[in-house]
Amino acid sequence: MAAKATKTAARTAARPTGDVADLRLAARGRGRIAWAAGQMPVLAELSRRFARQKTFRGLRISACLHVTSETANLVRALVAGGADVLLCASNPLSTQDDVAAALHEEGVAVHAVRGEDRDRYWRHVDAALAHDPQITIDDGADLVSRLHETGAAGAKKVLGSLEETTTGVIRLRSMHRDGALKIPVFAVNDAQCKHLFDNRYGTGQSTIDGIIRATNVLLAGRTMVVAGYGWCGKGVSMRARGLGAQIVVTEVDPVKAIEAALDGHRVMPMEQAAAIGDVFVTVTGNRDVVRREHFAAMKDGAIVCNSGHFDVEVDLKALAGLAARVEKDARPATDTYVMQDGRRIHLLAEGRLVNLAAAEGHPAAVMDMSFSVQALTAAHVAAEGDRLEVKVHTVPEAIDREVAALKLKTMGLAIDRLSKTQERYLASWREGT
Ligand code: ADE
Repeated sequence: MAAKATKTAARTAARPTGDVADLRLAARGRGRIAWAAGQMPVLAELSRRFARQKTFRGLRISACLHVTSETANLVRALVAGGADVLLCASNPLSTQDDVAAALHEEGVAVHAVRGEDRDRYWRHVDAALAHDPQITIDDGADLVSRLHETGAAGAKKVLGSLEETTTGVIRLRSMHRDGALKIPVFAVNDAQCKHLFDNRYGTGQSTIDGIIRATNVLLAGRTMVVAGYGWCGKGVSMRARGLGAQIVVTEVDPVKAIEAALDGHRVMPMEQAAAIGDVFVTVTGNRDVVRREHFAAMKDGAIVCNSGHFDVEVDLKALAGLAARVEKDARPATDTYVMQDGRRIHLLAEGRLVNLAAAEGHPAAVMDMSFSVQALTAAHVAAEGDRLEVKVHTVPEAIDREVAALKLKTMGLAIDRLSKTQERYLASWREGT
């Protein structure tokens, strides 16, 4: 059942415009949102503050994010602050339809249907632009890219845009380098309270969760090949090792490769790793990381998945080209490609983000920090108004410190304070041996 209404009804009627799968799922969605809220105390505190101060009064915000129970709590915090929020999906396979229905029923314009095809995906992004936002929030930069591709008219009204993920920040920096960027953007991903926890512990846990939900495979004693040793790769490797897997890391960056080696992992090119891996996970942010020659060398029964933002890391065309047939029935989110020589390669979640497509994404307790950084950065944009320079901004350090302090408090943890003497010592270059 598609919940659709006309555009003109968007900001006036209680039921906003939108496109969600089935409004009958709303009750289950409300339950999930409440469950996640229980793990997101920092965001709850900010939400109460926004409600008191009406931080976003009169502002239209368009968010292109994974539509999950955690995102719903971010949206609620923005709405509590007076924002008129439209939410669309940042990935066709990550939407939780029950959450989309619940949010939609409480008056948020949601345009997201799990499994939507490319046309519908972009129609939803276009709806987010038609909302005429003053603040945009992206996970992967599709909204901002589309805004720039479709002319500068909408860009004039955007006070600032926030970007959640590494891949999105890379795209924005290249737009800026090309002189194409027309709006101020914030690299939320680069805040410490985002990437140190979300990319590492969030991706680490949720990727393993996705692999296990999709396959129920035993990781102990298996060889897992992790392509990319950024924060996500470090997290995936650490957690898989904790389950008893032997980790092989492939890298193009010599420094990261040394880090992987000193962390105790084997390091080798994919060409070699292809023949020994039982499970392959790509987290590079780049394309064509697992290719034809690698599929040709893989063992029978190899599992291949991606936890990077876009579905380009595994060469799906090459895999399809090598296969005699594809079997889809064994398990959800697992397609078995049967090669001409009889070997089977299991591809998870169609090569899309395995942690969101085959599981539920990062746990709420980690998204509490990521989305608190998002919420405070949005409040910063609202306070700055049209004074922000057009460039890729870093998140103000005060926001990182505030989120960390609030998170520590909710975890019941205290830390030491510098004495005056220690402060003077740190500030002085005269004191040495
Ligand atoms: N990205 C990764 N995990 C997520 C989640 N649970 N919600 C929203 N975005 C995410």
